[in-house]
Amino acid sequence: MVDATKRCPTGIYGLDELLEGGFPRSRTVMVSGTCGTGKSTFGVQFLYNGIVQNNEPGILVTLEQDPLELKQDMSRYGFDLDKLEKEGKIAIISAGIEDKMAWEDLSVSIPEKAKEIGAKRLVIDSLTAIGFLLEEMGGKEDVRKIIMSLSNAAKRSGLTTMMITETPEGSEAISMHGVESHIADGVIHLTIHEAMDSRKIAVRKMRSTKHSLKPHDMEFSEKGVRILETEKAKSDKKVLF
Ligand SMILES: Nc1ncnc2c1ncn2[C@@H]1O[C@H](COP(=O)(O)OP(=O)(O)O)[C@@H](O)[C@H]1O
Ligand SMILES: [Mg+2]
Repeated sequence: MVDATKRCPTGIYGLDELLEGGFPRSRTVMVSGTCGTGKSTFGVQFLYNGIVQNNEPGILVTLEQDPLELKQDMSRYGFDLDKLEKEGKIAIISAGIEDKMAWEDLSVSIPEKAKEIGAKRLVIDSLTAIGFLLEEMGGKEDVRKIIMSLSNAAKRSGLTTMMITETPEGSEAISMHGVESHIADGVIHLTIHEAMDSRKIAVRKMRSTKHSLKPHDMEFSEKGVRILETEKAKSDKKVLF
């Protein structure tokens, strides 16, 4: 078991200083928000910078977006996923998750891939796809079990995991199925404020971490997303990331 007091730098400018240096190592953090809040960018940036800045290979499980399109979208921020894939530093698992078996398979394929490439980080984008299994299966309890077993499989492999979940438009809920936030060791919520043409990020929960609940401004830059208003950003003459 990896010591959670050890931190995993997030690769998101401004976020580490809000989290005592990063996410707790080998724990599961849920990133939630409505459509277009920047969740996928956030996830890929966590993996990309983990590789290029910290030399920590990563696994991306993409369940909603075609990997080719995702690569194109992410190249805009200079995230060259093709190159990292060829170098064996990132593994992209793409799956149309339509049955329970496919979800259960992930608890096997993720640890296998992790061993193969020496991964330290994992992003699952997104858990929302599990939603339409709800009716087919025994309801929330089964969904909870699957998410729990994914999270535990990742922990056993020593992966620091980001599980993305899309929340319904106009709802105050922080998770789609109401179970993810209980399982996660941390919850980060992204919001859009149309009237102000602005985005915010709030840390709602982070075990083993002293953090504020205050929403911070988040914006897109040429290198992904960044958090402003932090002490570091204020003291920097110009923001580099
Ligand atoms: N350079 C940019 N400036 C402002 N907003 C941007 C920029 N690039 C992308 N976006 C916003 O990012 C959104 C997509 O980000 P993405 O990470 O895919 O969000 P999500 O996964 O939460 O749906 C777009 O809908 C757009 O609003
Ligand atoms: Mg997305």
